[in-house]
Amino acid sequence: MLATSAIATGSFAASGSQPSERTGGGHASERDPRQKGPVAIASANGLGTVELAHRLMSSGVDPALAAVDGVALVEADPNDMSVGLGGLPNEMGVVTLDAAVMHGPTHKAGAVAALEDTVHAAAVALKVLQTTDHVLIVGEGARRFARMHGFPEADLLTAKAREAWLRWKQESSKSDDWLDLDEMDWSPDGSKAIPRTTGTIHCSCVTDGGDIGCCTTTSGLSYKIPGRVGDSPIIGAGLFCDNDVGSAGCTGRGEAAMQSLAAYSTVRHMEAGRNPTEAALAALDEVARRSRRQRRLVDDADNPNFQLKIYALRKDGAFGSANMRPGNNAYAVCDAAGARLEKAAIYAE
Ligand code: GLY
Repeated sequence: MLATSAIATGSFAASGSQPSERTGGGHASERDPRQKGPVAIASANGLGTVELAHRLMSSGVDPALAAVDGVALVEADPNDMSVGLGGLPNEMGVVTLDAAVMHGPTHKAGAVAALEDTVHAAAVALKVLQTTDHVLIVGEGARRFARMHGFPEADLLTAKAREAWLRWKQESSKSDDWLDLDEMDWSPDGSKAIPRTTGTIHCSCVTDGGDIGCCTTTSGLSYKIPGRVGDSPIIGAGLFCDNDVGSAGCTGRGEAAMQSLAAYSTVRHMEAGRNPTEAALAALDEVARRSRRQRRLVDDADNPNFQLKIYALRKDGAFGSANMRPGNNAYAVCDAAGARLEKAAIYAE
């Protein structure tokens, strides 16, 4: 566990329907009522995260704190180029992090955006939640806030990320955030995908007693315009939980998650009676329908040309996930059956 562990400084009291056509019947998870215990789910890079979060909740740790400590493993991993240390930088070569935490029992949230020089953005977001009346602190304010709470200053740009950034600069202009003429919405033939990475880690947790917490942390879109903030620190977009219903989070194209509040929508679909996978698919359907209003965001089959992945966990421990497009559709789960990768449903086959 980390020296800056959320747990060491934490202040919380411990506190069905048919599978949709697109799930193919095999993805939706209704929880077996005989299976007890906490459940943690995460994006595919979070196998260690869910194992740790599950272990912590099993020993009575609050679900939000378990999620934050779980994702800290990935934030500290220099080989994950989408989160924390080793994350890909913005177009100026500066790594900036976005993260948020939500706590079901109190319905509190904390977030930081465009945070520099600090590895554990999620733990800083947790400090916002625990020690302030605010939800989101950004930029230099977030950096100062982190120092104030004793988070050490760190150079996040690894040699590998710097080399990737330099390569991108050499080839740039075709793949930066400034739209080329043929990428503009009013261009009749503008439908090119922009190959960029928007990797992230999301983790949702529910205790045996049904208390919920969640966390999303990222270095955001690679080579982004300085100051760009994605969905990860935006409550309702990159994550949301309602202690009466469940939790959801997103990875992938943050702009799409923000424009449709995809995590919030997923939780509301679970509240309406959809199982977690169906709820994620319903939220993706909303994103897809709205994306069709911008030609450059859809392919020849009129499906979104970007990836967005939604992870959903219900209060009773049922879980599921759906991806906008085919590709690596694994996501991580840990429950009484142990830590493993499961397969998400695909929206646009
Ligand atoms: N989903 C991460 C981002 O777009 O920043």
